[in-house]
Amino acid sequence: MTWTRRHLLDLQSLTAEELTVILDTARSFKAINGRSIKRVPPLRGKTVVNLFVEPSTRTRISFELAAVRLSADVVNFSAEASSLKKGETLRDTIRNLEALNADIIILRHSASGAPHYLARFASAHIINAGDGAHEHPTQGLLDTFTIRERKGRVAGLNVTILGDILYSRVARSNIWALLKLGAKVTLCGPPTLVPKVFEQFGCRVTWNLEEALRDADVVNLLRIQHERQRVTMFPSLGEYTALFGLNQARMKWVKPDALIMHPGPINRGVEIEGEIADGPQSVILEQVTNGLAVRMAVLFLVNGGKATETE
Ligand code: CP
Repeated sequence: MTWTRRHLLDLQSLTAEELTVILDTARSFKAINGRSIKRVPPLRGKTVVNLFVEPSTRTRISFELAAVRLSADVVNFSAEASSLKKGETLRDTIRNLEALNADIIILRHSASGAPHYLARFASAHIINAGDGAHEHPTQGLLDTFTIRERKGRVAGLNVTILGDILYSRVARSNIWALLKLGAKVTLCGPPTLVPKVFEQFGCRVTWNLEEALRDADVVNLLRIQHERQRVTMFPSLGEYTALFGLNQARMKWVKPDALIMHPGPINRGVEIEGEIADGPQSVILEQVTNGLAVRMAVLFLVNGGKATETE
């Protein structure tokens, strides 16, 4: 199929075919990243702006590296040192970036829907790098890519997402991608963070950790999103860890070939014991590596590239 979208705003609106085009394109770019000369020309002459109004390590750096590998000029916008601090609106900021010929703007923002708002008037391509608790599409894509690469398929797999689902944009993007590609998704955590309403997405919701772990082919752990919780959702972090933290005793419920995933940043000793994060079933750093290929694919496709032009 042909890719026709100008922006990547979410995964909810993508079809299974579009998701597969991105994953297949990312596979080609991953092969390029294994070569001695890793730079390819598709974005030569283009300007990519990393506009991160919330903190980031993995997403910002891998988008920067992805744009450099595609031969783009890259500008990293620091919100703290920008005129946003002087009251300039996001809309005016974007218009000024476009006046400087920004071709692709990658936005991370605390407000859900901020990238969708920009896409209504921007002439640049907009990529959502995480908007509030709404979506984090490239994280959902790199997680799905990692599962497909490791397991050889997505359809039919049991994927458990464990933790703070309510406030997690990563959870929502994973849910959309995994369900569209035929996986069965189980959500688990405290009832205040995993409400039954998520069953309307097509997921199974359980508050029983053993039940959630036993048949899982993949266990994706999420940290507690303190920055987005407006009220206290459970008595203490210690109680969360005692009831839902993944530790060695609970690993006995996990299949020996199940993948342990985490989008990062990890809170060691809270949602996951350090030994498990560093253990043989963990693919956490592989997720980071795959994020680079996925972000190269997204930059390439929104700029009008065709899946066959990656060589
Ligand atoms: N997974 C993720 O979005 O990490 P960063 O916040 O470091 O980008």
